[in-house]
Amino acid sequence: MEDMTDLAGAHVLVLGATGGLGAPISRRLADAGARLWLSGRSQERVAGLAADLGDAVAGSTPADLRLPGAPDQVVAEAVAGGGPLTGVVYAAGVVAFGDAADVDDDVLDDLMLLNLIAPIRTLRAAVPHLAAGGFAVQISAVVAERPMAGMAAYSASKAGLAAFGAAAATELRRRKIRVVDVRPPHTETGLADRPVAGTAPKLPAGLAPEAVAERIVRAIVDDEKVLGSDAFTDA
Ligand SMILES: NC(=O)c1ccc[n+]([C@@H]2O[C@H](COP(=O)([O-])OP(=O)(O)OC[C@H]3O[C@@H](n4cnc5c(N)ncnc54)[C@H](OP(=O)(O)O)[C@@H]3O)[C@@H](O)[C@H]2O)c1
Repeated sequence: MEDMTDLAGAHVLVLGATGGLGAPISRRLADAGARLWLSGRSQERVAGLAADLGDAVAGSTPADLRLPGAPDQVVAEAVAGGGPLTGVVYAAGVVAFGDAADVDDDVLDDLMLLNLIAPIRTLRAAVPHLAAGGFAVQISAVVAERPMAGMAAYSASKAGLAAFGAAAATELRRRKIRVVDVRPPHTETGLADRPVAGTAPKLPAGLAPEAVAERIVRAIVDDEKVLGSDAFTDA
């Protein structure tokens, strides 16, 4: 029989849980029987999602993940409140648009801290609490494979994350912890309409968030190792 991850009773920390992808991923994990620890930036939205998901939620930690100690604190609270982790899903992120020559320091900080450094800090904090058979899912993006003009710094943050995930996956294979880099194409979550800088170019219609979330949770259950942009052609 092929390997499968049983989510019934699994303890999964979801960061960016309130997002357009994080929320449907959280809901599907809950439907599969997982106990969730939720994190998002807005306390109000985290509380709303927790109320929505009811008994599946073991607890939550709102946090601004750009801050240096925040990922460690989120992981520590999840472990203290919900016990050892079966998995972590990092679904937080921001986007920015504009020419590479014009990107300002605050925008660079936002992109790199939230999209690249925080998921690295999160994995570092989570590894000691992940048992064999556990998983760490990180959402990079199609631009990690095909960097886009007008999104150079965002593309760099995502390519950096994909590289980190690939190397960490090799390191952690021995401990039977899966690091899965997920690289969805444009998805209609509204992310492109709330950039930290610039304005989105006219984009073709994106994928449905529910379908992308379904594909990601299927990859968790089926023990898939990578989810490149081509994995979403039917999403
Ligand atoms: N949508 C796409 O087209 C697409 C395609 C490929 C990859 N991705 C990636 O998928 C991930 C999720 O994107 P999405 O479309 O779901 O975006 P989204 O709907 O805007 O959700 C973003 C999530 O990140 C959280 N967040 C934002 N700033 C934060 C901060 N400083 N500290 C902690 N949390 C923060 C938000 O929390 P609040 O709700 O509290 O603001 C929210 O939970 C991102 O990394 C994105 O780059 C998206």
